[in-house]
Amino acid sequence: MAFEVRAAVLTVSDRSARGEREDESGPLLAELLREAGALVVAQEVVSDESGPLAERLRALADRADVNLVVTTGGTGLSPRDHTPEATRAVVEREVPGVCEAMRAETLRQTPTAMLSRAVCGTRSGALVVNLPGSPRAVRECFAVIRPVLAHAVAQLAGHDHK
Ligand code: MTE
Repeated sequence: MAFEVRAAVLTVSDRSARGEREDESGPLLAELLREAGALVVAQEVVSDESGPLAERLRALADRADVNLVVTTGGTGLSPRDHTPEATRAVVEREVPGVCEAMRAETLRQTPTAMLSRAVCGTRSGALVVNLPGSPRAVRECFAVIRPVLAHAVAQLAGHDHK
């Protein structure tokens, strides 16, 4: 990646936060980000509870050393899935095309892709992107967003090269 991507990974899962299920998706996402040339500067697990989730999103996006926050989990239709709402509550601007592309591209392989309500936006110089929770979804969706991440964070930093 030409422009340095400094990423925070946030796994959103009640069960992983309680220690009842090993978090596979967060470490996988961190590995994929590193493979793509990003520096992973934070990796956390939070429950699906809206308040703490929004608080962690805000805190990570506001860190001076973070220009990308990628979440995994909590984007579906179950009553405890609050990640899109928490993300909308903290972002200043939405970037709908990112998650539209994830759904459109991965739908060909995985019909349930249409069930993810993932959103993307920007806050204090960071791009915030929701991914669904399963490792398979993380792999499929990350492959779609990977080519644009460096360009997106460069633009956010004012290094636009139009
Ligand atoms: N998108 C892709 N590309 N691949 C997947 O396997 N899983 C879907 C969907 N999006 C999936 C996907 C499923 S089964 C659900 S329930 C929703 O994401 C929401 O997942 P989440 O609640 O874990 O975020």
